[in-house]
Amino acid sequence: MRILVINGPNLNMLGIREPDIYGKKTYKDLCDMIESFAKENDVEVELYQSNYEGDIVTKIQEAYRNFDGIVINPAAYTHTSVAILDALKAVGIRTCEVHISDVNEREMFRHLSYVSYYAEKSFIGLGFDGYIEAIKYLAK
Ligand code: DQA
Repeated sequence: MRILVINGPNLNMLGIREPDIYGKKTYKDLCDMIESFAKENDVEVELYQSNYEGDIVTKIQEAYRNFDGIVINPAAYTHTSVAILDALKAVGIRTCEVHISDVNEREMFRHLSYVSYYAEKSFIGLGFDGYIEAIKYLAK
């Protein structure tokens, strides 16, 4: 089982950015947590973070035939990117969406998620645990 974990813009700033919303743990803490869970559960993971929409689209395209599942937190692109939605549809890989914060309890513009039109399941407002729950869901 090979899972690609994609994090969108500003998630590399975890620990620094708005800690009251996203917590004090860093992006490295997130990567370490995902990698150790994957190791213990016999899942192969690749972690990818980018601030660029087009690079995320390319990464999804390259996942075609190389990954069994995608866990994606598109961050701000969640609410704007038809291109990321179309890339996911193009490759047809099973996908879960993750948001650290509860986007439905925040500003109205965060309530719309383009990716959710394709994602099998969304894990919202569970903090870092959302990534683990998404991996478990895809791996079961
Ligand atoms: C986020 C929520 C988005 O609205 C925001 O733009 C992010 C992070 C989350 O994980 O809660 O960058 O996807």
